[in-house]
Amino acid sequence: MEIKTVYAVYFSATGRTRKVVTTLANAIAQTLELPLETVDFTLPAAREETYAFTDKDLVIFGTPTYAGKVPNKLLPFVQTGFAGNGALAVPVVTFGNRSFDNSLAELCASLENAGFHTIAAGAFACQHAFSDTLAAGRPDREDMTVLAQLGAAVVTKLGKMTEIPAPVQVDGDADAPYYRPLGLDGEPKNFLKAKPQTDRRKCTGCGVCAALCPMGSISREDPAEVTGVCIKCHACVRNCPTGAKYFDDEAFLSHKAMLERDYTRRADAKIFL
Ligand SMILES: Cc1cc2nc3c(=O)[nH]c(=O)nc-3n(C[C@H](O)[C@H](O)[C@H](O)COP(=O)(O)O)c2cc1C
Ligand code: SF4
Ligand code: SF4
Repeated sequence: MEIKTVYAVYFSATGRTRKVVTTLANAIAQTLELPLETVDFTLPAAREETYAFTDKDLVIFGTPTYAGKVPNKLLPFVQTGFAGNGALAVPVVTFGNRSFDNSLAELCASLENAGFHTIAAGAFACQHAFSDTLAAGRPDREDMTVLAQLGAAVVTKLGKMTEIPAPVQVDGDADAPYYRPLGLDGEPKNFLKAKPQTDRRKCTGCGVCAALCPMGSISREDPAEVTGVCIKCHACVRNCPTGAKYFDDEAFLSHKAMLERDYTRRADAKIFL
């Protein structure tokens, strides 16, 4: 199979998916001595365009897992913003040490439907956007070894490929429902309406949060105001230079505490070939 360009394509609110996708795409591009292009569709402006590929492209395509699936507010763009036109794809999801559940299956199905041919895939545990302790420091060296294995396997598969293979088979069910977050008491918790608060004593008005919100939902005039949808991605919380942003929603905090109590074991990265 003749590939001319490798692409790193991702949504990444707190940077873990970006790290996983760009590390993998870089390794493959370097081994094959091919140019590497990037499409970062995290910010709203990048989702005003659409992106077309060709059958000479290899696309490493990553999203995080939200509630066990592809983030629901991003899914329509994943499904309609990209034309594969026969490009080969390696779908990759990250997850915060609980489970990737059905996100990888949903991403694979979405890319196949958009005209990509999926040839390999992976799910990588990363530090949870909600937490300082859940999978802290991941992806770590062990994860990087698995990423390197996936990259090497993709290169080998490309070298041997004479025709388009059957779509990669991964764990999960693309049509399964979303995971329902549980709280410390084991009961479902609904925090769909939760929005970050701002400690006005700490806020300098720098505007970083407004510039980085993937939903464009933080007012540039008053960064304490969330004017639109909040997907709880934590880009504002993690990137505020003074630590002024935080969530105080009780249901959200109970879910976060449950995750930190019940998901301390190490979830392994998993690759599918
Ligand atoms: C709203 C939301 C929902 C999440 N749901 C899950 C989940 O169901 N399972 C899981 O293991 N991690 C979950 N996570 C953790 C993310 O998948 C993880 O932090 C991911 O690496 C973040 O990627 P990013 O840094 O590229 O934004 C969730 C994170 C957020 C913000
Ligand atoms: S990033 Fe933090 S300090 Fe800057 S405007 Fe937003 S809340 Fe204020
Ligand atoms: S306001 Fe919500 S959607 Fe916007 S960056 Fe913060 S957590 Fe993410």
